[in-house]
Amino acid sequence: MKIKTVVLAIACLMGSSWVQAAEQPHVTIYATGGTIAGASKSNIDSTDYKAGSLGVDKLIQAVPEIKQFADVSGVQIANVGSPDVNQKTLLSMTKAINKDLAKPSTHGVVVTHGTDTLEETAFFLDMTVNSDKPVVIVGAMRPATAISADGAMNLYDAVKLASVDAAKGRGAMVAMNDRISPAYYVTKTNTHAVETFAAPEQGYIGGFISGQPYFYYADTKPINKPHFDITNVTTLPKVVILYSYQDQSGELLKDAIKDGAKGIVIAGTGDGSTPSWIQDTIKQAMKDGIPVVVASRVPTGYVSTHENAIGSGFYNPQKSKIILELALAKGEKIPQIRHYFAQL
Ligand code: SIN
Repeated sequence: MKIKTVVLAIACLMGSSWVQAAEQPHVTIYATGGTIAGASKSNIDSTDYKAGSLGVDKLIQAVPEIKQFADVSGVQIANVGSPDVNQKTLLSMTKAINKDLAKPSTHGVVVTHGTDTLEETAFFLDMTVNSDKPVVIVGAMRPATAISADGAMNLYDAVKLASVDAAKGRGAMVAMNDRISPAYYVTKTNTHAVETFAAPEQGYIGGFISGQPYFYYADTKPINKPHFDITNVTTLPKVVILYSYQDQSGELLKDAIKDGAKGIVIAGTGDGSTPSWIQDTIKQAMKDGIPVVVASRVPTGYVSTHENAIGSGFYNPQKSKIILELALAKGEKIPQIRHYFAQL
């Protein structure tokens, strides 16, 4: 109390701008690369640029307006196209974020990321961050060098979201193109359009008007949403995703197991269906203790409980893979793993 009084007295002597700076929320920006940090020789190029060209300092310098409401610092986790983000990156980033958010001085964090696998990182953070403080994942569909690049405004919005109290307790969120999506449900829906991130069934939880976030609802928690403590996890097991189609061969499934997969996700057809001739291989894998989760290549809908395999519930194949990795990392076996996917 005494210290606060002294600080305020000094602040009054130094003028109101100092008071404003001293009271600004601290937001850490973890940069991983992607188009938001991408550069091209041509300012109309939105396909052949190099993702992950600019460092975090350059991203922050490009949006000086952020300093009007937040005290920001940058951490360069990686500077890659998001297909190169891997389990090692996710584990080390989550651990750094958990440590950071445990500090009373950190209000929230922003992760800048390529959009191609952004939903996987967002979902991973949603499952593993041990804090109610805001975690916001952001990217861009046009490189920083493009006419009408979307990264700067997206970054402004993301930092703003991470700096407001109303963003607490909502799980990880994706801030893109003036919308706020829940990391739990969001998916990339268009290969090039700036309006690409959406949760087609569950919808947006809010958005931004002139950089000011708003929410439609009070914070709500999805039913049966799991959480995993990764404090003592040093590696994640290998889980592969196989795509189902007419004429799908069972050989790739056998090869994946031979190659050391500890879990399999199949992007099945419809309600997670797979050809009759691969059922015996699936059954054998399950008998051998290798969980096989059947998700769907259909963009929306629930995959029911299956007799031979585990139905993925509302999780798409890439989100199912993350749940499976985290459950296996905890040493869980097929009966417990089924519970994570049965969401109804
Ligand atoms: C990437 O995912 O790194 C490239 C594409 C993008 O960021 O939009």
